[in-house]
Amino acid sequence: MNRADVAARLRAAGCVAADDEAACLFAGAHDAATLERWLRRRVDGEPLAWIVGWTTFCGARLHVAPGVYVPRPQTEALARRAARVLPRSGVAVDLCTGTGAVAAHLVHAVPDASVVGVDIDARAVRCARGNGVHALVSDLAAAVHAPGAVDVVTAVAPYVPTHALALLPVDVRDHEPTVALDGGADGLDVVRRVVDEAARLLRPGGWLLVEVGGDQVDTLTPDLAMRGYVHVTGWRNAEGDLRGIAARMDG
Ligand SMILES: C[S@@+](CC[C@H](N)C(=O)[O-])C[C@H]1O[C@@H](n2cnc3c(N)ncnc32)[C@H](O)[C@@H]1O
Repeated sequence: MNRADVAARLRAAGCVAADDEAACLFAGAHDAATLERWLRRRVDGEPLAWIVGWTTFCGARLHVAPGVYVPRPQTEALARRAARVLPRSGVAVDLCTGTGAVAAHLVHAVPDASVVGVDIDARAVRCARGNGVHALVSDLAAAVHAPGAVDVVTAVAPYVPTHALALLPVDVRDHEPTVALDGGADGLDVVRRVVDEAARLLRPGGWLLVEVGGDQVDTLTPDLAMRGYVHVTGWRNAEGDLRGIAARMDG
């Protein structure tokens, strides 16, 4: 089977980036049997990153273990913003770290900083460690004992409203873990807890950066104000869609 055949089978299965994905499968599979097995998994909708074992994030190659949420290009904006506000020798906590994508970028961008990633899923924590991140299994910040000592808290928590899970692409719905996606009735169940727990961790003047979407900035603004955050700003992608919120702890 040549690369064009692989691309044709991917295209027939509905892959939008069939040529790029074919190149990736072709480059990674060392023999024809592996290529065939990988192709079948991809045609069944399994994420490409689980099959080949990696993706790229902020220009770096990141290990992605099967079962762990695949970092999205849209999250790179959050990681880059967080790196800009993390002081040299500062302290950052990445809640809901998954593969450790955001934390790994912070380690790379601010090498003198102390960066910790936490996730409730032990598979994710193992994966993050494989990406060079100091990572802990923890329900949000339960295992992080640094009240008022943290410069930056980042979180790409689950934020899809439960009723909207059915609208996700079928590959995501069928394969990626619900614990990574389902944010409850308005999508903000875990994010509200992040806002609370980050308020305990952050020093005055420290920053919280969270990924959200839709109109969640309006819903979340009162919670942020109540917990002492100021300078709440949302950022948007090129299409004008909300992608995240940055907020500063008063002081
Ligand atoms: C949308 S994924 C984001 C992963 C990673 N930050 C990224 O951007 O690729 C959400 C992650 O949050 C984790 N998670 C969900 N609830 C959690 C909780 N209560 N405490 C810690 N992690 C949690 C999931 O296991 C999953 O890895």
